[in-house]
This record gives sequence, C-alpha cells and structure tokens, in this order.
Amino acid sequence: MAQQIMVDAFGGFEQLKLVEIPTPQPGPGQVVVRLTSIGMNHADLMARRGEYRIASGDPPFTPGLEGGGVIEAVGQGVTTRQVGQRVTLGVDVPRPGMGAGGTYRSHYVCAAEGVIPAPQAIPDAQLGALWLTYLTAWSCLVWKQNITADQYVGLPAASSGVALAAAQIVRAAGAIPIGLTTSQAKRDRIAALDTAAYEHILVTREPDGSDRKWYRDLKNLTAGKGVDVYFDPVAAGPHLEMEITSLAQHGTIWVYGLMGRPGVVDVTPLIRKRAAIRGWVLAEVIAAGPRVLEQGYQYILDGLSHGRFRQHIDRTFKLADVQEAHRVMERGGHVGKLVLVP
Ligand SMILES: NC(=O)c1ccc[n+]([C@@H]2O[C@H](COP(=O)([O-])OP(=O)(O)OC[C@H]3O[C@@H](n4cnc5c(N)ncnc54)[C@H](OP(=O)(O)O)[C@@H]3O)[C@@H](O)[C@H]2O)c1
Repeated sequence: MAQQIMVDAFGGFEQLKLVEIPTPQPGPGQVVVRLTSIGMNHADLMARRGEYRIASGDPPFTPGLEGGGVIEAVGQGVTTRQVGQRVTLGVDVPRPGMGAGGTYRSHYVCAAEGVIPAPQAIPDAQLGALWLTYLTAWSCLVWKQNITADQYVGLPAASSGVALAAAQIVRAAGAIPIGLTTSQAKRDRIAALDTAAYEHILVTREPDGSDRKWYRDLKNLTAGKGVDVYFDPVAAGPHLEMEITSLAQHGTIWVYGLMGRPGVVDVTPLIRKRAAIRGWVLAEVIAAGPRVLEQGYQYILDGLSHGRFRQHIDRTFKLADVQEAHRVMERGGHVGKLVLVP
C-alpha cells in the first residue's frame, strides 16, 4: 500500500489526514518514485489554509511542492531511467496544481523525463528538498540578477532554507552575503551552523518585538555604500522602508515572499538612487524552458556534490506526523529546512 496526505477542507492542522491507497503503477513513459524526502515550504501552510488556491485548487487536494527518492518501477517504453536510480522531481514535472500532483505522499507517478538523476553525495533526506531553496535563489540572484564579486547582498529571513542556500550561492559568486533575522536567539543559532555562509548577521527586532533600526548597521558594514541587492521574502512596511534606506546607488530589492505585514512605504529614495523593487517567482525560470532549468540543476547538484553547498535540515518528520510538522513550521522557530520522510 501507499500513503498520501489529503486536505478535504481548508483550515487548521486537523485538516491534514493520512490515507492509504493501492501502490500506484506506472503508465507508458512514466516512472514511480518511492519518495525518501519531501521538502516542506511555507506555501504548504498557505495551501492548507486556503491562501494559495492558484496551486492547491479547491479541496480535496494533496499539498507539497517538491520531493525526491528512488525509482521503484518504470513503465512501458522507458529507456532513460532505471529502477533503483536516485532522483529528484523536477520543478517542471507535469502536475496540474497541487490538487492532483502534490508531493505529500509515499509514491509519486510522473513522466520519466520529469525526474533528475541525483549524485550519491546527496543524502536521501535531502533529495526532495533542493529546488525550492537553491533553485529559487540561483534563478533570481545568478540567472536573473547576475550578482558580481564584491557586491553586498542582503538576505532577510536568514534562518529560512531559502536564505541559507542563497548565502552559499552569493559566496560562490564572490559577493558578500548579509543575513537579517528576527531575534538574537536565532542569530546565535545561525552563527553556530557550519553550513551558514553569512559574512554578517543582523537582528531586525528588539526583544519586545518592535522593529530595530538595523539599516544604520548596514551603513558601517558596507563602508557607507549600502546594499547592492536584497533578496527578500518579508518586504513590507517598516522592513521594506529600511531596505530602501540602506540600498546602494542602482540597487535592486527582489521581493519573493509574503511574510511581512503590509504598511505605508516611502519609495521616493528610489528616484535619487535610480533603484528598483522587483518581484521574483520560481515560475519564471520554469517558463524559460528546459535549457535554463538544466543549467540551474547542474550548477546546484555540482555545488552539493563538491561540498560548495551544504543544506541544513532542522528536523525531519514521519508522514504520519504531518500535523505536528505544520505546527512547528507555523511557530517559525526552525533554522533551515523541515522535511517529511515517508
Ligand atoms: N517566489 C518564490 O518562487 C518562492 C520560493 C520559495 C519560497 N518563497 C516564499 O518565501 C517565504 C519563506 O518560505 P520558506 O518556505 O523558506 O519559509 P520558512 O522556512 O517557514 O521561513 C520563514 C522565515 O521568515 C521569517 N519570518 C517569518 N515571519 C516573518 C515576519 N512577519 N517578519 C519577518 N520575518 C518573518 C522567519 O525567519 P527569521 O526569524 O530568520 O527572520 C521565518 O523563520 C514564503 O513567503 C514563501 O512563500 C517564494
């Protein structure tokens, strides 16, 4: 039998239900991947609550945007993939929204060409947790922004899997990653990680939860120049205003998430700085086609194989403990990636 998480109605943790189904069989040209890991993403919480219908569709649906594991069966006509091969699911693997194709399950069926062979150096618990972190960061910062050596790159939500991956990519480009995190306790935990590549880590909130004026520290850290590029999932209200204040001449703020509290923001310094605020979403690199995607996959797999990139997994959970896993992610105390292990 196979297992799968179903959401039958939008709502709280209790809506995540484990169901057993017959183990799926591959159709012609397809493979069945027994998933060894499923990367959790903030988008999964939003999907469960009904805040991400563009991906989830209406209930019932299975959440989950990424996964990886071992090929357990191949369908008729498949010659390019073999049983026993370790693979990750490509971000463009055909799935008509999470509804039909969400990854919170033990077995995943898809087109053989939709899975990417993975090097042995990548452990099973990470196979399914690579792309939403590393590919989001690579596609924006390297492919789109083309960061250059010695640029200062600001990375808010420094404890998140995306920002930790981005810091390694920024370092690899010879630029200088500066992390921003919400508390001193998290700052200390990030600084203690041997996988954290930040040159500096700043705290954005006072102990009472109010906003710290962290933009002042950035003036000193960047020798008065300011931050060349922000890659930011918070980007709203006072946080965004401090980014604009601390942005360098011709700087760019890339907004890729929805964590911040909206508020009134003064954008007029952008005129003097000839600077920009732009949005980023992984879908843009998917739309660019297989050649660019392949370039990103190989860059990341090569970095992971040779130890240039190292992903930090905060915790793993059994699929049966998915409610607890969502609770932990919603509390936001984690540092690095949360992963489901079927
Ligand atoms: N555009 C894309 O293609 C794309 C791809 C992947 C992810 N995302 C987005 O990126 C965001 C993060 O996703 P994730 O899966 O990495 O989440 P995550 O692991 O849960 O990380 C969220 C982190 O954001 C920070 N944070 C949370 N609430 C905040 C607030 N109100 N103000 C300031 N910081 C806050 C905290 O880090 P600190 O305590 O360290 O500050 C928190 O740990 C989500 O909005 C997600 O949708 C977008």
